Amino acid sequence: MATDVHRPVTAAHAVRVEGLTRSFDGRAVIDRLQLDVRPGEFVALLGRSGCGKSTLLRILAGLDREIEGTVLVPRRKAVAFQAPRLMPWKKVWRNVLLGLPGKPGRQVADKALEEVGLSHRADAWPKTLSGGEAQRASLARALVREPDLLLLDEPFGALDALTRIKAQRLVGELWQRRGCAVLLVTHDVEEAVLLADRVLVMDDGVIAHEERIDLDRPRDITDPRFAEIRGALLERLGVDTAAEAA
Ligand SMILES: Nc1ncnc2c1ncn2[C@@H]1O[C@H](COP(=O)(O)OP(=O)(O)OP(=O)(O)O)[C@@H](O)[C@H]1O
Ligand SMILES: [Mg+2]
Repeated sequence: MATDVHRPVTAAHAVRVEGLTRSFDGRAVIDRLQLDVRPGEFVALLGRSGCGKSTLLRILAGLDREIEGTVLVPRRKAVAFQAPRLMPWKKVWRNVLLGLPGKPGRQVADKALEEVGLSHRADAWPKTLSGGEAQRASLARALVREPDLLLLDEPFGALDALTRIKAQRLVGELWQRRGCAVLLVTHDVEEAVLLADRVLVMDDGVIAHEERIDLDRPRDITDPRFAEIRGALLERLGVDTAAEAA
């Protein structure tokens, strides 16, 4: 029988998951998974396509409750997906406020848009935004929720290389300024090592491997230790995924 235990966590954890199982058509995609995230910790989640990363993120976001086990997450959480999912009939600033409780004024949206460097597009229609701008609008929408936990599902996947680097830097800065916990799903091992305190590899429905990244920030990808950690993670992911992530 499904037990749905979504309630706020203690001060010691931003996320606490115990014995989490999620099945589709009798197949356990997530199978008695354990996961703890500290408040303010940046965690990256890697794993081959179809291993259950998005499923886990949706559960943490409270979007999927057909689960067994315990899931404790902060009340204030926000999620941003790979496709920014903006409402085309609302201007950017209204999209940022969409679904917020109460009747927040425009200045709330403006402040978040300023934080992501998108003030000049506040009155634009979503379809006129570039991919990078839409992604920043999506981040602003997450930030106005003042999350203690920010859930990001491959947020930079669709961006070109240069825009991607800028967006990664922006997320790193926002994280340091806001001090919220972040769980970032990505296929990009380099991105994971660049940003995270800890990198997890998901396989067979559980967290199969974890790597603590003790490199100083901002991180230098030319640092031999960076290459060493990246290499170890690629090995963990197997040759096929390594080729995909390269
Ligand atoms: N609503 C659903 N109904 C049936 N099966 C589902 C559903 N959602 C996910 N699955 C299955 O669960 C598995 C994990 O899917 P999930 O989207 O979590 O993978 P992922 O790790 O995020 O993959 P990717 O890296 O490709 O995004 C897949 O086999 C998928 O087909
Ligand atoms: Mg996914």
